[in-house]
Amino acid sequence: MCGIIGIVGREPVAGHLVDALKRLEYRGYDSAGVATLEAETGLTRRRAEGKLRNLEIKLAAAPLSGLIGIGHTRWATHGAPTEANAHPHATSRVAVVHNGIIENFRELRAELEAKGQHFASETDTEVVAQLVDWYLQQGETPATAVATTLKRLTGAFALAFLFTDHDDLVIDARRGSPLAVGWGDGEMYLGSDAIALAPFTDRVAYLEEGDWVEITRTGATVHDETDAVVERPIVTVSATAFQVDRGNYRHFMAKEIHEQPEVIGHTLARYLDLSASTVRLPPALPFDWAKLDRLSIVACGTAYYAGLVGKYWFERYARLPVEIDVASEFRYREPPLPKNGLALFVSQSGETADTLASLRFCKAQGQHTAAIVNVTTSTIARESDVIFPTLAGPEIGVASTKAFTCQLSVLASLAIAAGRARGVLSAEDEKRLVGALGELPGLVLRALRVEPKIERLARETAKVADVLYLGRGSSYPIALEGALKLKEISYIHAEGYAAGELKHGPIALIDEVMPVVVIAPHDPLFEKTVSNMQEVAARGGRIVLVTDEKGAGAASVATLETIVMPDMPDLLAPIVYALPVQMLAYHTAVFMGTDVDQPRNLAKSVTVE
Ligand code: M6R
Repeated sequence: MCGIIGIVGREPVAGHLVDALKRLEYRGYDSAGVATLEAETGLTRRRAEGKLRNLEIKLAAAPLSGLIGIGHTRWATHGAPTEANAHPHATSRVAVVHNGIIENFRELRAELEAKGQHFASETDTEVVAQLVDWYLQQGETPATAVATTLKRLTGAFALAFLFTDHDDLVIDARRGSPLAVGWGDGEMYLGSDAIALAPFTDRVAYLEEGDWVEITRTGATVHDETDAVVERPIVTVSATAFQVDRGNYRHFMAKEIHEQPEVIGHTLARYLDLSASTVRLPPALPFDWAKLDRLSIVACGTAYYAGLVGKYWFERYARLPVEIDVASEFRYREPPLPKNGLALFVSQSGETADTLASLRFCKAQGQHTAAIVNVTTSTIARESDVIFPTLAGPEIGVASTKAFTCQLSVLASLAIAAGRARGVLSAEDEKRLVGALGELPGLVLRALRVEPKIERLARETAKVADVLYLGRGSSYPIALEGALKLKEISYIHAEGYAAGELKHGPIALIDEVMPVVVIAPHDPLFEKTVSNMQEVAARGGRIVLVTDEKGAGAASVATLETIVMPDMPDLLAPIVYALPVQMLAYHTAVFMGTDVDQPRNLAKSVTVE
């Protein structure tokens, strides 16, 4: 989950490499580095521990002027995030940047050390540089050295190579990690995604699994995994896919929270025909909702919690049995899958390694596959039978917000479509539910109005060590999501629990200090949740209740704070109630002074398992 970039240019590239890396920093920010071919010093590197500004300081002190180069921003897997472990890794003949994991690096390193190659880092990546170097020493060309090396690597990777004495050649390769090649005017580029290439070009080709490419100033020669020369289509990427500025907001996360009314509206416009009050899906789906025996939903992190809400909806509105699992468990337990099963993958990035591996497992098992993805050019999007895009736009904050509520908007639409197709919902039911979804952007906008109150609450939350989140039914995943949001950006320990589970253990945690955030719209389960709140109150616990007017009036429990959401149909509650938990996490993190958009140890796109 690192970001890589390469430029074969006509003017000094170091500054452009750093600019591109800034757009890739969401993929990791433990260290960064660039390598260029310099007239005086040949293959030359600048590397720095920590964020990109440290690399910029180094480059300001010791500039590079080469016209060709590669760059990297790192999320550490093998070896601490030190300068010595920062990419590019290099020998006197070749430099390499890498995203992914080389699984057989120990064997390769032992073999190469036995041959006299000297290693300077603890990383898995360095074996790739050393192996190519070894083949170059044996008289191979850069292209054949890379092709031979690729066949010896196991694992997932995107790689880019720069060679001494070759000032018009960068070679890159992909297996399991994404790579885009960009066409400029007498310049060529490569990057982990098209966003990185946005300042230079909107004409890109996405490499296929196993591809490797020779890039010169005038073009690219793409080879497939058998080394045969192949063509990959050049597409024009839309300008909106590149809009990644923070506007007037202090953080991307704040901007993305506030964009939700708009992007949910865009997303729903794709799936609903509001004038006919129906759900509108692609006409020729490769499966029939009515004939499905089971839906398997697989995802990670926040996307998994979206899927968990989806489970409640598909079971309730379509009476479709749903299995749901986190992808890292699903892929290895090799679950038996039914003959007429649909496997649905939920992913913002569309590149999450475990989710992608689960997709491939399901395809191999003959399942129909579908994906809810935000990045429609991603690997998961390209490998699924059908995709249901979210129209959230680029999500840059590591903590997912608008992608989550857009995923929920799509899941709600699909559940209604499935309910109709399976004869569970009548046309009248569909009309009512679609009408409710039509109100969603306005309700989300109204939910944002509680922000000042949440900001005051966050000032107190920033002082505690632990927070418990409770919810029942489709509010349970929102409790889980609230806890995840808080811990990932504020570093405060938080747990999400099904409210009914409280008495089976976590009630022992209740004291006069730890806030208990209860997500409880006034729905058919409300009274049950009130009983759980009473159990908390009876033990001196501090309750923050997130409910609606009716719930606030009926709660009959003293609260530290009550956050009131607008009234809404049950279907919409998990989507709208996501906003207060997002805002609580955001403002708590701001009070704590953490790096909200790039919290420690995390990366936006998790392309390693
Ligand atoms: O790109 P994906 O949706 O597949 O990513 C899944 C998780 O890595 C992601 O949701 C993660 O949990 C977020 N940091 C949560 O805010």
